[in-house]
Amino acid sequence: MKILVTGGCGFIGSNFIRHTLRRHPDARIINLDKLTYAGNPENLADVETDARYEFVQGDICDPATVERVFARGVDLVFNFAAETHVDRSIGDPGSFVMTDTYGVYVLLEALRRFGGARFVQISTDEVYGSIEVGAFRESDPLNPRNPYAASKAGGDRLAYAYFCTHGLPVLITRASNNLGPNQYPEKIVPLFTTNAIDDLPLPLYGDGGNVRDWLYVEDHCEALWVIAERGCVGEVYNVGGGAEITNLDLTRRILAILGKPESLIQPVVDRPGHDRRYALCCDKLRALGWTPRHDFDAALRDTVQWYVKNQAWWRKIKSGEFRKYYEAQYRGREV
Ligand code: NAD
Ligand code: TYD
Repeated sequence: MKILVTGGCGFIGSNFIRHTLRRHPDARIINLDKLTYAGNPENLADVETDARYEFVQGDICDPATVERVFARGVDLVFNFAAETHVDRSIGDPGSFVMTDTYGVYVLLEALRRFGGARFVQISTDEVYGSIEVGAFRESDPLNPRNPYAASKAGGDRLAYAYFCTHGLPVLITRASNNLGPNQYPEKIVPLFTTNAIDDLPLPLYGDGGNVRDWLYVEDHCEALWVIAERGCVGEVYNVGGGAEITNLDLTRRILAILGKPESLIQPVVDRPGHDRRYALCCDKLRALGWTPRHDFDAALRDTVQWYVKNQAWWRKIKSGEFRKYYEAQYRGREV
């Protein structure tokens, strides 16, 4: 089975490629990744020499590159490639609109031209917007509230449109916040973990009461395979970890695992348009036989320990492009 993974050098994509090579011996993977600031070939150093794996550096927004890959024959596509950080999308949304919407269009056009392959569009729970009580179902209207979420909603609905209009075998997944190894340290779990290791402040937005539903990346990878193999084309599947906690609670748990004081918590001015709560109803995916297997506290402990043990990985990132970003993002925001 020939599989095209886009964005495979990022956080979830690299975990997914490793998971797939371990669990699906017949898989042959092409990883098409542009290597933006978030793409890191070191995430896949351990599989580089596997004959079933090939890396192609390229942009999903470039039709010639995408068509060259599709022309080699593909049975299944997982589109992870995206700009993913909400805070960056606020100041600089152009690349989000390009990759997260236009890039999906380029992939779908190639799919139409070369035909056949099942196409899994990795969308996000953020397309629904915020929910105070209850949980979003797949049939609920979309109400994205930041440029990242809106660009992802564009890709999500374009994929659906190609199913309706051209009959392409498209499936759409909407996952909640992931945690796990190899996540770029701008996101809350690796940022707060690595700052705490160095006794640096943890910049907590607003009152810390925003709620996220956490999903261990390994559970996400399993869900993606269940959806690809057993899902109905044209359908959307929510993927939630079922572990809802506030950011303040999450922060306290990270500090407790590391044995660091809560005095490291530094309240900062809130993110504009900050969604208060995300929550998903996952009955549709559970009906296909999936359930998250990892307990949240154990997953958080393993994740934090991964960053403790892999300091060379994140220290290299934090001393590079990230430094400039961090200073511009957080300077003077203390309250
Ligand atoms: P990430 O930012 O860690 O990685 C994104 C990857 O895409 C990088 O390797 C980058 O180089 C690549 N990329 C970016 N633009 C590209 C382009 N134009 N062409 C080719 N490659 C490009 O992201 P992630 O956290 O691993 O997220 C992967 C996918 O999962 C995204 O589509 C995201 O929207 C979705 N998602 C993420 C989460 C989460 O909690 N991280 C939750 C739900 C959905
Ligand atoms: P993030 O990891 O950026 O994911 P998302 O915005 O996609 O949910 O943020 C998770 C939550 O953590 C979100 O409510 C914003 C909050 N947050 C902070 O409080 N401080 C930070 O420095 C960051 C990056 C996020």
